[in-house]
Amino acid sequence: MDQAVLILIKPDGLKKSLTGNILTRLSETKLEIVAAKMVRVTKELAEEHYKHLKDKPFFNDIIQYLQGQLHDRKKVMALIYWGQDAIKKCRDLAGATNPEEAESTSIRGSYGRITTSGVYENVIHVSSNDSEAEREIKLWFAPDETIVDLYATKSIVQQEVKSKVWA
Ligand code: PPS
Repeated sequence: MDQAVLILIKPDGLKKSLTGNILTRLSETKLEIVAAKMVRVTKELAEEHYKHLKDKPFFNDIIQYLQGQLHDRKKVMALIYWGQDAIKKCRDLAGATNPEEAESTSIRGSYGRITTSGVYENVIHVSSNDSEAEREIKLWFAPDETIVDLYATKSIVQQEVKSKVWA
């Protein structure tokens, strides 16, 4: 079954210059990249992304982490991979969420760590299932930022919307 999955290369991955390594590892899946961009993560976006973890003791830490406040790299790389069994293939390569439990050759096992305060710095995020992938992709990307039609869309006419264009 063709699936879409959201991948985030988090600020620690960017700071450690791991983008190339991570993309090379993910290319082993033979999946197609159908969207990619650099994002400056607002507090609102980070809180919405991790909203199911609002009551966890590490919630504030992961919000700061995703915003890049812990790594002096205030950006993440967001990508959508698409193809057969995309979620399982990407999660297998990423390894377990806890970098200490991740297989040592996986992306998180190779590059992740746990901070002294117990927060996982696991360099990438991978959607956990189909419904989370849909929620996350709709949060991070607009329909016209992907090169395939992933979900149903509708056309609306927006009036007096201020937007930046090339001068
Ligand atoms: S759940 O409800 O714990 O199963 O949530 P999960 O979907 O696995 O996502 C947890 C995200 O929080 C990050 N994180 C931690 N999780 C658990 N324990 C600690 N100490 C912790 N620190 C950070 C974890 O990396 C998951 O984020 P992503 O972006 O998916 O890696």
